[in-house]
Amino acid sequence: MRNDLKGVDLLKKEKEDEQYLSLRPKFLSEYIGQEKVVETLKIAIQAALQRNEPLEHVLLNGPPGLGKTTLAHIIANEMGSKIVTSSGPALEKGGDLMGILTNLERGDVFFIDEIHRVPKVVEEFLYPAMEDFAVDFIFDRGIHARTHRFRLERFTLIGATTRAGLLSSPLRERFGIVRDLDFYKEDELVKIIKRSASLLNVTIDEDAAQETARRARGTPRVANRLLRRIRDYAQVKAKGHITRQVVIEALELEGIDTEGLSELDRKLLSTVILNYKGGPVGIEALCATLLVEPDVIVEVLEPYLLKSGFLIRTPQGRKATDKAYAHLGIQRPSTLL
Ligand code: ADE
Repeated sequence: MRNDLKGVDLLKKEKEDEQYLSLRPKFLSEYIGQEKVVETLKIAIQAALQRNEPLEHVLLNGPPGLGKTTLAHIIANEMGSKIVTSSGPALEKGGDLMGILTNLERGDVFFIDEIHRVPKVVEEFLYPAMEDFAVDFIFDRGIHARTHRFRLERFTLIGATTRAGLLSSPLRERFGIVRDLDFYKEDELVKIIKRSASLLNVTIDEDAAQETARRARGTPRVANRLLRRIRDYAQVKAKGHITRQVVIEALELEGIDTEGLSELDRKLLSTVILNYKGGPVGIEALCATLLVEPDVIVEVLEPYLLKSGFLIRTPQGRKATDKAYAHLGIQRPSTLL
């Protein structure tokens, strides 16, 4: 099953990551929002540098686009280390991991995105690597099997996940620093948007930055993605300056509504309301009706809909809230009838 609607594309990394990289802060001092996480990291980094030791392993958890990868690059930068990146699905065999680990130098950062997708066989290689800085390699099989322990340099593993709950406890327990990233407040997104606008050499009014922030789903990656579309629109239609009206017109064209919901978000809500009488509806039924993968709903679409009160999750399934009915302009049938 595939779904090519805009809402999913909006949150996707892929090619956008490259462009987005240029807008990413490089140091903690430039990082806006996630104050507690930033403070924890500042202290841990300073302490490690003073002791001349590599940083402990770090696990960052939270919805897509909130800055997990950015923070991993910043950590490597602040530690003066090299960063090697991979992702759970890319690490198919223990051998893949061995190759990477044995090439790491002292203090290097090894970043694994979507660490909850690391296959079990590979995960088992990670345990001694994280804890003892060693990997056990098995030669031959059966009665001739011999293991050899390779020593590794002390490195820092940074894991990013949208589903910390799916991590096995032996893996989770091997991280010294575990932090959740939360959606950004509007005033933080305003600052990020203004910073990005200045890096993109485009001028933006205060109320235009606020309007963009309001529609950015609490997510810097979305804010920067919208800003690029708005910049294009301003360049072609409004002499390159971003006003609130430009934001409204550009986002209308993108199918992003006043609450920042995309076509797919609205389709999800209207499906719950119209096909399932407002819910509760189980995730499988919802996926079958919408033709999207469960992971897209659980990891990408739903976190913001839950957080902003359009949807609630009950033991019986997802339910649309009064706010969802009101936003879509659908009358909730009276329960008294
Ligand atoms: N660009 C994207 N995320 C950012 C953040 N948290 N702070 C500053 N600039 C950003």
